[in-house]
Amino acid sequence: MSVQDSWTTSVAQHGPRRDALETALRSAIRDGRLAPGSRLPSTRALALDLGIARGTVVEAYAQLRAEGYLGARRGAGTWVADLGLSIAPSVPRARPAAPSPRFDFHPGQPDLSAFPRAAWAAALRRGLRAAADSTLGYGDPRGRPELREELALYLTRARGAVADPERVVLCCGFRHGLSLVGRALRTERATRMAIEEPCAPPHRAAAAASGLRLVPLAVDERGARTDLLGELRADAVVLGPAHQYPLGVVLQPDRRAAAVEWARATGGVIVEDDYDAELRYDRQPVGALQALAPEHVAYGGTASKTLVPGLRLGWLLLPPRLLEPVLALREVEDVHVPATDQIAFTELLRSGAYERHVRRMRTRYRARRVRLVRMLAERVPAVTPEGAAAGLRVLLDLPGSGPTARELCELASERSLALYEVAGRNAVLVGYGALPEYDAEAGLRALTDLLATVYAS
Ligand SMILES: Cc1ncc(COP(=O)(O)O)c(C=O)c1O
Repeated sequence: MSVQDSWTTSVAQHGPRRDALETALRSAIRDGRLAPGSRLPSTRALALDLGIARGTVVEAYAQLRAEGYLGARRGAGTWVADLGLSIAPSVPRARPAAPSPRFDFHPGQPDLSAFPRAAWAAALRRGLRAAADSTLGYGDPRGRPELREELALYLTRARGAVADPERVVLCCGFRHGLSLVGRALRTERATRMAIEEPCAPPHRAAAAASGLRLVPLAVDERGARTDLLGELRADAVVLGPAHQYPLGVVLQPDRRAAAVEWARATGGVIVEDDYDAELRYDRQPVGALQALAPEHVAYGGTASKTLVPGLRLGWLLLPPRLLEPVLALREVEDVHVPATDQIAFTELLRSGAYERHVRRMRTRYRARRVRLVRMLAERVPAVTPEGAAAGLRVLLDLPGSGPTARELCELASERSLALYEVAGRNAVLVGYGALPEYDAEAGLRALTDLLATVYAS
């Protein structure tokens, strides 16, 4: 468990109080997760991160200084004191857990510390208070009508989708949606699904597990080669038009048109992965492809990037022909997503808190991205960031003269940084979004320090 996790868990358990914060910090220092000499975030930054009063953090730091856990000097911040503790776990572990990296640049993870806990809790409280008892029984497998209404409005507003609430189906994230659509297609006698290559490995696995034969579709700097779809004899294709994973490219207008043309001419289905389109930094997000052919596109969205993946909350916007087969699958497996999550999410959308959160996070991630790109330009010009200014990650193409991507990941790991290789390309993915806000600057610095050392000319 990271220090940030233990702070937030302790705060969640004991309430946003000084005691909880002190307990979390003491235990992190005692068991070595906060090493002697580590700098703590400023009281202002930590208070902002945890959503508590700054005075509470000031008092907690003062108490721990008095107890000798922390040191501080005006102008030099607060750091962990050297207590001379030998670090031995009180309960021997059968298998030592792999130490988590100090900075994990996971490309698919948002800043988990930014989950709007208070807004979610308030939305759940408000919604539960008002909800009829019947809301807590077996419900519509698509999801509650109020939630589908709110989502349809949101998708129309934010994504320019053609969103009929009757065709919205809540599911457990995009991966689940893809699996449902894949299996629904099988019941319609579809056999072949084209999928971008490269793509997210779990999505390839989910599509394959649905029983469809996968056909790779090449991707270049203008997006997936939809102009080649006709040759692939596929019944469906999975596309990430707004921000392809992992290459980060955007499907260009002629390629969007080619996909739609293919679907209309062949009756093929486009599965649109619209996982992070709200996070575009250089312009307004490109609208959903679904709007161009609502009868042919199974649109999939998710709260995994805008909120957190642990919610397992996603949504489909389906063409009529796929609605019944998908609902038949829900009836025999999970029935629908949990009622309490639906209640909270309805309220979050209705109150505007969801969109406020997305705006706040967009500003935060944009700032990180700009900072990283600037640091790279100044310190490591040999490494080139690729892809649209969007999402939670950047792809770095590595110069052929230096270490391979795998070697770089190993060097990073020695410094307790986790970077991620890109299959088939000498490149790494850097998920700047995954760092907690209080640690983002330190993480970007540690990364650019490593790259500057490796690629010193
Ligand atoms: C390309 C892509 N699509 C969608 C998702 C979201 O998946 P889910 O909604 O199942 O969490 C991810 C998550 O990493 C992703 O990388």
